[in-house]
Amino acid sequence: MLSVNALLVALTAFSALSSAAPSPINTPLHVPLTRRASTRRSTNSTVTMDRFSKAADFIRQKYGFISTAEFQRRQSSTGFAITNQGADTSYFGTINIGTPSQSFDVVLDTGSSDLWLAGSQCTQCPTGTPEFDTSASSSIQTSSDQVQINYGSGSVIGNLAKDTVSMGDFTVSDQTMLVVDQMTSGLVDGSIAGIMGLAFQTIASTGAVPFWQALINNNQFSSPEMSVFLTRFLDDAQATDEEPGGILTFGGTNSTLFSGDIDFQDFPSGSTASYWLQSISAITVNGNTVTPSSSEALAAIDTGTTLIAGPSDAVANIWSQVEGSQALSGQMAGFFSYPCNTNVSVAFSFGGQSWSINPDDMKDRKSVV
Ligand SMILES: *[C@@H]1O[C@H](CO)[C@@H](O)[C@H](O)[C@H]1NC(C)=O
Ligand SMILES: *[C@@H]1O[C@H](CO)[C@@H](O)[C@H](O)[C@H]1NC(C)=O
Repeated sequence: MLSVNALLVALTAFSALSSAAPSPINTPLHVPLTRRASTRRSTNSTVTMDRFSKAADFIRQKYGFISTAEFQRRQSSTGFAITNQGADTSYFGTINIGTPSQSFDVVLDTGSSDLWLAGSQCTQCPTGTPEFDTSASSSIQTSSDQVQINYGSGSVIGNLAKDTVSMGDFTVSDQTMLVVDQMTSGLVDGSIAGIMGLAFQTIASTGAVPFWQALINNNQFSSPEMSVFLTRFLDDAQATDEEPGGILTFGGTNSTLFSGDIDFQDFPSGSTASYWLQSISAITVNGNTVTPSSSEALAAIDTGTTLIAGPSDAVANIWSQVEGSQALSGQMAGFFSYPCNTNVSVAFSFGGQSWSINPDDMKDRKSVV
């Protein structure tokens, strides 16, 4: 093991030297290979391998085979403070793009997979939307390829571009994104400049590997995990437009933010990684079981959607269990109301466990009449 590792280190250094030399070298290049006497200092092979892999990294770094950012940030887990905008309407975080970097607030959306930002050519973005000035970035690679991304709440059109994107110390040097020049109204608000999709590449309209997947592919996470803790201000009449939104953790979980065990689930059989899907096996309302609308009720766990939505018949089944509930009409068609003094307990079963929704999450105090 030892000699193989030592040899790999030496080969790495040698190939780096030969390919990094642009000018012709007439004399043979001699690379002195020195070996420390104390290579067997540790009897723990993991520690030894770790030392060699670090040494190899130093050589890669020295000869320009690894960027400083990648070198400094290998395999970690970091929590990012996020912001709750509009009493649980959007949860956003801050990313940095380009060289020198420009900082933007983006919606953190597990229900989509593209990264887009309003560009400085945006003619239909809401007044005050921060815009990415691509001409100010020396690392941008622009393209004339146009892409449209459709969301439940609107759409954007723009051009594909690649640039360095980072969140804290996590960096992807060639992240594909859409620089948007047309946007339907109401899609983003306030300081938000775009959306960062946290679902899988398969559903990306740009076709690009999403930022979080690129970080995993680049081996930047200590564990291939991402976790999110969201705050609730729906029931707080004093809430301002921006409140602390919780924590997004890349590369692991934060045990101070949950209790009990994590229930890891495979994707439902027959479905590929697309949205963060679960198959709902049962729904209970105030202790009574109601049936999902079909035998295969797939649900997406989506941080970018404000409401819990379902097929009309399944939603009607839920409210039929709540005394005094009423289907609303007109602009509120599809919604239901119920008496203020009632607590509604809804639980969804997936993966062999039942997950209950806090009754306070069912109530919108601002809509109380
Ligand atoms: C974990 O969450 C706590 C809040 O309960 C926070 O103070 C802490 O910084 C978080 N840890 C990390 C590593 O982000
Ligand atoms: C509903 O739950 C709240 C706590 O969230 C409690 O204070 C209240 O008494 C409950 N109301 C009813 C009618 O059970």
